[in-house]
Amino acid sequence: MTTNSSAKRDISLTVNGDSKTVRAYPMERLLDVLRHELGLTGTKEGCAEGECGACSVMIDGTLVNSCLVPVLQAQGSSVTTIEGFSRDARLSMVQEAFLEYGGAQCGICTPGMILAAIHLLNKKPRPTTQDIQEGLSGNLCRCTGYIQICEAVAEAARRSAAR
Ligand code: FES
Ligand code: FES
Repeated sequence: MTTNSSAKRDISLTVNGDSKTVRAYPMERLLDVLRHELGLTGTKEGCAEGECGACSVMIDGTLVNSCLVPVLQAQGSSVTTIEGFSRDARLSMVQEAFLEYGGAQCGICTPGMILAAIHLLNKKPRPTTQDIQEGLSGNLCRCTGYIQICEAVAEAARRSAAR
């Protein structure tokens, strides 16, 4: 866990629709606060350098790497993690497509990939292949070779459009 010389302080933010106040070092990573203080372990740690997207969350609707965000920066913001989409119809569609197309293997990248996919489909409900590739370009996967993931997102978009 990241620490620094500043004292801990109360930091208030909204997480998955609930108001939360955490006592944390201002520069502590949002990723650690989510996982260790709030028990939201769906957000994964991969590279810890902003390269892999495993730690993706949304802050006020923008997709960010939570390993690079000091928790103080999220003060007053609305943070959404993969757990926050548990009742979202789009999540189930994307999850089902990932399962059917083999888009999830070891699973470390999966929550971040799914968040990136939801973020993309919210902006572009009918994405082209290039849109999908660009939308997921910040998320790395060591297992699947990406083809299954892109096919899964395309299928989720088709199902969503057919509803
Ligand atoms: S763990 Fe944050 S981008 Fe890789
Ligand atoms: S499924 Fe293993 S890293 Fe993507």
